[in-house]
Amino acid sequence: MATEVTPYGTGNQDKKAQVTTMFDKIAPIYDLLNGLLSLNTDTYWRRKTINRLVQSKPKTVLDIATGTADLAIEANKQLSPDKIVALDISPKMIELATQKIAKKNLDSIISTEVGDSENLRFEDQSFDAVTVSFGVRNFGDLKQGLSEIYRVLNNQGNLAVLEFSRPTMFPFKQVFNFYFKYILPTIGKLTSKDPKAYKYLYESVQVFPDYEDFAIILKEIGFKTVTWKPLTLGICTIYLASKE
Ligand SMILES: C[S@@+](CC[C@H](N)C(=O)[O-])C[C@H]1O[C@@H](n2cnc3c(N)ncnc32)[C@H](O)[C@@H]1O
Repeated sequence: MATEVTPYGTGNQDKKAQVTTMFDKIAPIYDLLNGLLSLNTDTYWRRKTINRLVQSKPKTVLDIATGTADLAIEANKQLSPDKIVALDISPKMIELATQKIAKKNLDSIISTEVGDSENLRFEDQSFDAVTVSFGVRNFGDLKQGLSEIYRVLNNQGNLAVLEFSRPTMFPFKQVFNFYFKYILPTIGKLTSKDPKAYKYLYESVQVFPDYEDFAIILKEIGFKTVTWKPLTLGICTIYLASKE
């Protein structure tokens, strides 16, 4: 894998601690900026991701790196499972997720908790599905996080990952890259409480394995079947991985 990118560069804190600090800082404006910067396409991307799990009818779902719980809420809508655990390393994100879930009266189905994807408290094989949107790129140790997911998934379980990828098609690649590298960090700098967060977003996507490269990593972890589907000309990609 390429060199590690962290939000604040080399310093006293490792990537995981820096990521936690960054998401705590940007949490209050996270939903607003997501909608604005993606022109609300993010809701369509999450809808498509959960849709990939409908056929397998999962009853228990773990949404890792839940942020403000949008993917967990979409999972409830499309899958109607018995329970969803929405977990995130950022206490501020979990605070907002908890409020959003309570407002929607979903707290009997979706529970929230602060937790680290790389060290999950759950027993082996305790979930039918695990979902992660825009989270895996931020893990301190990608393989450790994916191994933990593999461990807590039932043998018939599926993992659905939504993550940014790098468009490859000319001239969309060039146009999108200009927006992603220059315009988006400038808007992020002016509006979020962390001027570095949206520069980190661009930089972390550039070094993160996408398409087949990410599928290979999932297979190395042990997943038997891995498929992927690029969305919106490859701005992001859904990966579906199963243990069988
Ligand atoms: C870009 S946000 C995505 C939030 C949400 N899933 C969405 O679709 O909007 C990434 C989230 O990953 C969380 N995160 C990063 N590393 C994590 C880890 N090791 N364990 C759990 N959550 C983590 C961050 O705190 C942040 O809330």
